[in-house]
Amino acid sequence: MLTKQQFIHHSLHLNLFFLRIIKEHFIFLEAALFMKNKKLMGEAEFFKNEFERLLKHTIMLAESAMDFKMPNANEFVTKYTLDAEKITQFATGIPIDMSITKMEISLMSEKDSKHHHALLEDHVYKLNDRIIKTVTAVIKVKSQLLEDVLSCKLFVNTYPSLLEHVLEETKHYLDLLSKLQGRIEIHMKQDLMSEENFWNHIMSEHSLFIRGLLDPSEKQLFDIADEFAEEFETLEKQTEDLNMLSSGLSALTERTIRSVTALRDFKAQATEGLLGCKIKAIILPLLADHVLREANHYLHLLNMPDDM
Ligand SMILES: [Fe+2]
Repeated sequence: MLTKQQFIHHSLHLNLFFLRIIKEHFIFLEAALFMKNKKLMGEAEFFKNEFERLLKHTIMLAESAMDFKMPNANEFVTKYTLDAEKITQFATGIPIDMSITKMEISLMSEKDSKHHHALLEDHVYKLNDRIIKTVTAVIKVKSQLLEDVLSCKLFVNTYPSLLEHVLEETKHYLDLLSKLQGRIEIHMKQDLMSEENFWNHIMSEHSLFIRGLLDPSEKQLFDIADEFAEEFETLEKQTEDLNMLSSGLSALTERTIRSVTALRDFKAQATEGLLGCKIKAIILPLLADHVLREANHYLHLLNMPDDM
């Protein structure tokens, strides 16, 4: 059972991370649609705006939470996020509210101790509830979209696997948030193992997406991306095998931390290369920064003490 403080902090952390992730999924979707699907574009725009509102609300609540620390803030925004948003907006014409990113940057640099809002717990509970409803609607939309793409009723300029991938992430978020809302601990040992499995799978897919979206002339980069995909597939299998055993877990976790750190560095280089127009690819800089933040988030989870 979570304490009031844990409930508030875990909720704020989870929402700060995932609300931005889901909002960006809609930017990527909108950018992948064709003229013919104006209605879907409008829907993507609607959800993007809704998630921007939810994220703003979360930031405001985080500002009023006493002792709310963001030690691994690079999972929420990185030093590249603002530039990646500017270039992505310029490239796609999709409006992105960058004031939110600035709010987050100043939230991270805030050092003064804050006064605890008396009704904070209640506000967080209500916010979580609103998010759960919205995310449930998003899962329906994303599932339908995937079904239409797989049955060739709809053509989008992105991989069907990527649509499946964002759907999995959304379901994972809903699952975690629903547990939190029920005050269930989400970082028990068993959960960490299934988290590892989930995130190893996500990391392996990121490597494959990066490879597939690079220009065919970028041979050296897709060899690196291929190696990462292979490594995370191996880790995913090994985590599955170890799921029932506790021995060997820490050695596997150590190897995972090393591999995620290496992939994180590769993603940071890729983001920098795309922002500086040094890499040929069909990857929006914001997508590169997005997967970089997911690696940072995973590293944060892996380095978390067992009792959290
Ligand atoms: Fe992802």
